Amino acid sequence: MNPQNLIEVVDVHRNLPVGGRILGVLNGVTFNVAAGEWVALTGPSGSGKSTLLGLLAGIDRPTSGSVFLEGIEISALPEAKLAQVRNRKIGIVFQAFNLIASMNVLENVAAPLYIGPHRRNARELARKMLAQVGLTDRLDHLPHQLSGGEQQRVAIARALVGGPSLLLADEPTGNLDSATSTQVLSLIRDMHRELNLTVVMVTHDPQVAAYADRQIHLRDGRLVDELPVFENIPAGIARGLQ
Ligand SMILES: Nc1ncnc2c1ncn2[C@@H]1O[C@H](COP(=O)(O)OP(=O)(O)OP(=O)(O)O)[C@@H](O)[C@H]1O
Ligand SMILES: [Mg+2]
Repeated sequence: MNPQNLIEVVDVHRNLPVGGRILGVLNGVTFNVAAGEWVALTGPSGSGKSTLLGLLAGIDRPTSGSVFLEGIEISALPEAKLAQVRNRKIGIVFQAFNLIASMNVLENVAAPLYIGPHRRNARELARKMLAQVGLTDRLDHLPHQLSGGEQQRVAIARALVGGPSLLLADEPTGNLDSATSTQVLSLIRDMHRELNLTVVMVTHDPQVAAYADRQIHLRDGRLVDELPVFENIPAGIARGLQ
């Protein structure tokens, strides 16, 4: 393992049973992500992006192959140790925000700290994190009393409050309009810079992917090195080049 790599994914396969058959969802995926890098994972619907993110998150395990995080083979850890790695090293944000409806903003952000080493000052750390995402005046709101962009900022605060080294985001702006998407992406960019956070973000939107340092593309569960040149550039310009 190269110490500069936060993540190493080595020949990962993931097979899933579908209607009596075995479907190869990931078919031999290998790549690295450097510490402090922001990578966008793109590809058509069904290409295996969310499945791959689940393996990086330690929510799911590969059928074969290995996933290393900071040199630890998370794909081979027993569940109790894996849960600890998830809690301490990984923050996750989803398209649908996934906040707990009955808890207010402060409680949602403090919640993951109650199972880690910070339980004594959970509320204080949550308050600080909410200040960083600009939501100090929303602490006692319930999720349904917030806009979509505010809910996603709470979800980002919850993902980062434990001081993870890795943020995983699956279509984080998929439910937001374009102005709100820009705000949320700017927030991720600020956190990436200020906290030297490594980010792996799934998106099918080229404008969102452009925020990343590097893009990797999946197709049919395999990485494709580069998009064909005409997919990378606006259609009008591509036609002009033909
Ligand atoms: N639990 C499951 N059981 C069976 N098949 C699954 C399961 N989860 C995903 N799949 C299949 O695996 C393939 C990849 O799914 P995945 O959700 O990773 O795609 P994706 O690239 O994230 O797509 P999208 O852009 O639509 O979110 C799809 O064909 C899907 O039907
Ligand atoms: Mg998906």
